[in-house]
Amino acid sequence: MAIIASNFKTNHTRKTTSYFVEEVNKYLVSNNVSSDVYIFPTSTSLDKFETIPTLNIGVQNAYATQKGSFTGEIGTEQLDEFDVNTILIGHSERRHILGESQEEIAKKFAFYSELGYKIIYCVGEPLEVKEEGLEKTLEYIYSQFEGIDINYENLILAYEPIWAIGTGVTATLEDITDVHSALKSKIEKPLLYGGSVKVDNVRDICSLHGVDGALIGTASWIIEDFIQILENTKDL
Ligand code: PGA
Repeated sequence: MAIIASNFKTNHTRKTTSYFVEEVNKYLVSNNVSSDVYIFPTSTSLDKFETIPTLNIGVQNAYATQKGSFTGEIGTEQLDEFDVNTILIGHSERRHILGESQEEIAKKFAFYSELGYKIIYCVGEPLEVKEEGLEKTLEYIYSQFEGIDINYENLILAYEPIWAIGTGVTATLEDITDVHSALKSKIEKPLLYGGSVKVDNVRDICSLHGVDGALIGTASWIIEDFIQILENTKDL
């Protein structure tokens, strides 16, 4: 059974998000699809969506707090309003564009794991590290587990090479297999691949040994494409 996640990033409105969620829910119900599906809308589009249990709505980010003075952030008081208990942590855009350090990420992980949240935890190397070879790549990735409880029961991992995110350049099946088998030998958790996953390559990627699903940005934002992605992976 595949795990398929859509990260909206800074896309969609309340209106288009609710249409999207409804359509995905309808598709899953009417086709009896049992894949585990996650959608991460913008925080402003959160709502009490009516979905089947296999369609989960999570947040792309939140602060490690219930409430308080953290301008621009949200905490569990806001998440509880919409019964959200799934969060993405460690995404490369938060690490590299928003400047989150490993220490801050580990703090966030500890806070949300303490509360029992389902966490999709992202790791992945920049191009200059990839070019130094597999050993350096793995070393870099392992450093992103510093302070992270890899035995946490509600943990899903996502390997997302930074050079593949939003670039249209997907990692090769060989690259994915190399990193996934190394990670899988150390950490027994579901492991998604992310980075330019598309309608046409999602099945091949998700069929690889050691790949339990995909975390998808760009190619997931058009509803017809996302449903095609679900269709292409429904029997895996
Ligand atoms: P992408 O993004 O599919 O647009 O490469 C993936 C991600 O950032 O999760």
